[in-house]
Amino acid sequence: MRLSVNVDHVATIRQARMTDEPDPVWAAVQAELAGACGITVHLRGDRRHIQDRDVRTLRETVVGVLNLEMRATPELMEVALDIGPDMATLVPEGERELTTQGGLDVIAEEAELREAIAKLKAAGITVSLFIDPDVVQVGRAKAVGADIVEIHTGIFADAETPEDAQREFEKVRVAAIAAIEMGLRAHGGHGLTYRNIHPIAGVDEIEEVSVGHSVVARSVLVGMDLAVREMVALLEGVE
Ligand code: PXP
Repeated sequence: MRLSVNVDHVATIRQARMTDEPDPVWAAVQAELAGACGITVHLRGDRRHIQDRDVRTLRETVVGVLNLEMRATPELMEVALDIGPDMATLVPEGERELTTQGGLDVIAEEAELREAIAKLKAAGITVSLFIDPDVVQVGRAKAVGADIVEIHTGIFADAETPEDAQREFEKVRVAAIAAIEMGLRAHGGHGLTYRNIHPIAGVDEIEEVSVGHSVVARSVLVGMDLAVREMVALLEGVE
């Protein structure tokens, strides 16, 4: 199973000070060198973390698959068609949400999605739809022309009991099998961590997962030792 690393939170730290570090592009290079198959960024309508310039620079630097997560608004469609990522993952987006809440309702937004998918595909962009683990939504994703479904793993990830986790995991697995049977490709993502990835990694039908928060959170901590040593060395080096 391949890993696409979502570097949004690197930009979140940068935007907390409106400065130029840490650079998500640098993080993306390191993620690819460490074995990620590609990089995911979510360009939100409010630009709270990733900026248009980041996506442009990533377009020039990412060697694997650059996946642009976005809501299919006219404004973001224009950006996507202009920059031309390898792949676009269409997601719902609420203004005040901390992170994406649930998958697209492909049935309710069928006409808009069909049009957006057609435009993206005509520009050579592979299209994924982020959907809940629901076989009906998988079928509608196929009907509107998606290439891939990214199955929402967040409910599985947030389950509070082993029984709930098992039930939610089964939904993810069944949705992934349905996707393959319908001729789609299956990805997974949201809320995956070093602790809960194991069962998902065992689902053969899921070819790729997108992980953001947990990888960036861990990178802050595994990098802390060296970062502090470097600053202490600078202080000690002063006469
Ligand atoms: N997939 C989608 C569609 C998302 O919106 C996100 C969060 O931006 C992710 C995957 C990654 O989720 P997490 O940051 O919880 O790993």
